[in-house]
Amino acid sequence: MRIAIIGSGPAGFYAAEALLRRTDTVVHVDMFDRLPTPFGLVRGGVAPDHQSIKAVTRVYEKTAARPTFRFMGNVCLGRDVSVEELRRHYHQIVYATGNEADRRLGIPGEGISRCTPAAVFIGWYNGHPDYRHAKIDLSVSRVAVVGNGNVAIDAARILLRTPAELEKTDIATHALEALRNSRVREVFLLGRRGPAQASFTPPELKELGEMEDVDPVVAPGELAGCVIPETEGGSQQDKNLKILQSFAARAPGTKAKKIHLRFLVSPTEVIADAGGNVARLALEKNRLETRPDGTATARGTGEIETLDVGMVLSAIGFAAERIEGVPYDEKAKIIANEDGRVVDPSSRVVIANEYAVGWARTGPQGLIGSHKGASAHVVEHMMADGAGLEVRELPDRDAIGSLLKERGVQIVSFSDWKQLDDVEQARGERRGAPRDKIVDVESMLAVLAQH
Ligand SMILES: Cc1cc2nc3c(=O)[nH]c(=O)nc-3n(C[C@H](O)[C@H](O)[C@H](O)COP(=O)(O)OP(=O)(O)OC[C@H]3O[C@@H](n4cnc5c(N)ncnc54)[C@H](O)[C@@H]3O)c2cc1C
Ligand SMILES: NC(=O)c1ccc[n+]([C@@H]2O[C@H](COP(=O)([O-])OP(=O)(O)OC[C@H]3O[C@@H](n4cnc5c(N)ncnc54)[C@H](OP(=O)(O)O)[C@@H]3O)[C@@H](O)[C@H]2O)c1
Repeated sequence: MRIAIIGSGPAGFYAAEALLRRTDTVVHVDMFDRLPTPFGLVRGGVAPDHQSIKAVTRVYEKTAARPTFRFMGNVCLGRDVSVEELRRHYHQIVYATGNEADRRLGIPGEGISRCTPAAVFIGWYNGHPDYRHAKIDLSVSRVAVVGNGNVAIDAARILLRTPAELEKTDIATHALEALRNSRVREVFLLGRRGPAQASFTPPELKELGEMEDVDPVVAPGELAGCVIPETEGGSQQDKNLKILQSFAARAPGTKAKKIHLRFLVSPTEVIADAGGNVARLALEKNRLETRPDGTATARGTGEIETLDVGMVLSAIGFAAERIEGVPYDEKAKIIANEDGRVVDPSSRVVIANEYAVGWARTGPQGLIGSHKGASAHVVEHMMADGAGLEVRELPDRDAIGSLLKERGVQIVSFSDWKQLDDVEQARGERRGAPRDKIVDVESMLAVLAQH
């Protein structure tokens, strides 16, 4: 079997591992990524001050070392190669392209200067080539981060860390320099539902109370109506409530920066100053309503307040990008699929030999580790679907590389990536950091040309 996996994030790598370790079939995997660098959000999303999480790439390196695995970086599906071409060269295709588009608030003023999706800020500080030129103006003192998930917390934390805390991380050098001169002193984390409905996880919430120069602020009224558990432990919700209660009980802090946790508020308008930059955010107070299925939903009360902030980051989720030739589910904003088997979005009829894994399959939910079992589950479908079928004769295994080279595509192999990795780590050593990322594709290719 020859299989193409598109995307080298956790889901793609776990699918590759599940395929390559099979003993019933010899599988050759070609993994494509639009970037010259592998690992998806582990490199471009996971926060730089969470280095230990990034150690998971060692597991992926073991997969990459398997003899029937090839990495073909700097190859974008839909730009450099088409789905039709992949169908000719591979028996099966796995889309592991993640969720690279943002969800929008859809309110007046969204998109004015200094109002941006958090993904832009995150890509910028993580040195993702797409965002290296993002305009992140840190000359403001107060920032609103909309959303109550871990991405919102990541963005808030990086905005408020001291330069000393950031220097020892692999944060992009341009971001480190900008953050050194940052005037941001207060961040408002805004949840549309209540504290009990927040989706951030307890360790991430707790960390907000452990930063060098930041006091967490929870006005006692924010927890009104919440049933705070007596004991430690319990569900994520209980743990979050306990932590929030401990923040609310703290005496006013003396640290220079504050993170305010606010609940039951929805932005209704981003208001600009005369120069067209964010000046204020209008917020509507919400109350909770219980749906028939028991879940709580936010309902606006009509009561409006305005918050003086100079920047708004929205961290309200992601969507899969549309890729030419790949069926797209408009409603769920993912690749159209039934339990990982790609389907026609209207008829729901299965498109043979094409699969989706990871966020491309489910939308933006789940931690890195969750993809291990989930990708293996889809691989079981792949093997079951292929079993007993005559294996189709394919062009020579190198034909796809020749096709791409004819088009002038410079394919980056895994050993090329290891060279970039060495260069980045050596640059990082000079800065006292684990790595100093190269942030544009041209420079990456230039480094490889020199080696
Ligand atoms: C900001 C942020 C921080 C996070 N932090 C953590 C954390 O600390 N711990 C944790 O457990 N989870 C974390 N997560 C969640 C975790 O990153 C995801 O669960 C996981 O990365 C999703 O894996 P994936 O393989 O589906 O997608 P991704 O990791 O996004 O990988 C998709 C890959 O596909 C490639 N690609 C996209 N389109 C194309 C194309 N057309 N052609 C070729 N290649 C393409 C991309 O370049 C990318 O490499 C975080 C998520 C975000 C957004
Ligand atoms: N350190 C880590 O482990 C880490 C770091 C980053 C990300 N991740 C993971 O990556 C995944 C994605 O994280 P995420 O933070 O993007 O997603 P998330 O956990 O789904 O959070 C999205 C937040 O946006 C809110 N929201 C959605 N639409 C909104 C709107 N129109 N107005 C106001 N608020 C709105 C949601 O509120 P409702 O709940 O009311 O819908 C929710 O609070 C999660 O699984 C997360 O755990 C993990």
